Amino acid sequence: MELTKYEQDMLDGKHGEGVALAMKIQVGLGKAFNAKRMVEITRTHVALSAQDADLWFVEKLLNKGARCKISPTVNPSINIGYLKEHLFEVPDAGVDIVSATNEAYKKIGATLTFNCTPYLQQNVPGFGEVISFSESSATPYVNSVLGARSNRESSWSALCAAITGRVPEYDLLLDENRKGEILVEVEADIKDDFDYQLLGWCYPQKYKGLEIPVFTGIDKRPTPEGFMNFGAQLNTSGAVSMYHVVGITPEARTLEEAFGNNKIKKKITITNEDIERVRKSLCGEPGKIDFAMFGCPHLTISQVATIAKKLEGKRLAVDFWILTSTLTKQLAQKMGYLNIIQRAGGNMIDSTCIDVPPCWQPYYGKTGITDSPKCAYYNEIRNIKFIIRPLEECVDAAIKGEVLK
Ligand code: F3S
Repeated sequence: MELTKYEQDMLDGKHGEGVALAMKIQVGLGKAFNAKRMVEITRTHVALSAQDADLWFVEKLLNKGARCKISPTVNPSINIGYLKEHLFEVPDAGVDIVSATNEAYKKIGATLTFNCTPYLQQNVPGFGEVISFSESSATPYVNSVLGARSNRESSWSALCAAITGRVPEYDLLLDENRKGEILVEVEADIKDDFDYQLLGWCYPQKYKGLEIPVFTGIDKRPTPEGFMNFGAQLNTSGAVSMYHVVGITPEARTLEEAFGNNKIKKKITITNEDIERVRKSLCGEPGKIDFAMFGCPHLTISQVATIAKKLEGKRLAVDFWILTSTLTKQLAQKMGYLNIIQRAGGNMIDSTCIDVPPCWQPYYGKTGITDSPKCAYYNEIRNIKFIIRPLEECVDAAIKGEVLK
């Protein structure tokens, strides 16, 4: 790999041991992917997880003197104070690792947003910006919807990028690798944000390859929440880091632009029957529920408004959790939504992820309801079962304590 003098100096330790370690990892990655050079980045987002390996790595860099050149936003962890007050006493081990991780990220220079939708608030890249974003719903969103350029990063590689201000140039950073190869004709009626969850889950069931899919047949621009759901499920069930929607996403104004010089390698059709099959296999049978959980990825203010409207003057029969960013929670308070949700018996927690053990221990072995297949999938290992329904139906079920259909 060709390095500039500045980059070579970083690698040789002239900017300190921590920077050298970050650069060494990135050069290794670059070599593995046949990158010819490093390129500067303007933004980073690190999928912090507050687990042992996360803490080990950030402390290792910190102890070697590394600091971020570009302050990354970070994924949610656990809002320990809120959980202690409203759910259960978080075990000391959990408290210790979360506090130590937060402290280490603060020291290294991260911006502690604790939010998994940075592409909607606080860290929104523009078209063509070269960035380093880790987090499964973020990578497809920034590449496909915003036209920014990020490879599929791990939390470690994104943290290294934040420290060096560089990434190796390969894959989605290059024009020729951003073109489609798989044509996906959507014949199914995709009517709302929830249908994008199902469509996002459905495509990888029909095609397992990592090539960029180009969707046709979607005439109406999805909402930001629709795009968020779509990318989250595509990437969770199929490792899709970028897609095009012809006539809608910025690098696919036409079919020709979406494919560039590539030939169509495979044609796939998604019908109403396919979506129904996914609905049946994924969403689960009606029945009693113990709790409701939303916000994987973190809910937007418009989703919170939908919930608040349904809960006005009602009382919830089961525990009810909305996970969101600090900013959205504050906005919900201003708009009166928080008050409505709390009066109904619900919780709105910021800075928290559905996937951070031992955060949700009281629900191990129980049955919840959610609108997010990703939430259900990540919690399988904790023996938490989820019934999946559209958001408004979930709220109805939480009021009744049961899913009727
Ligand atoms: Fe966000 Fe955690 Fe889900 S980071 S997308 S709530 S797994």
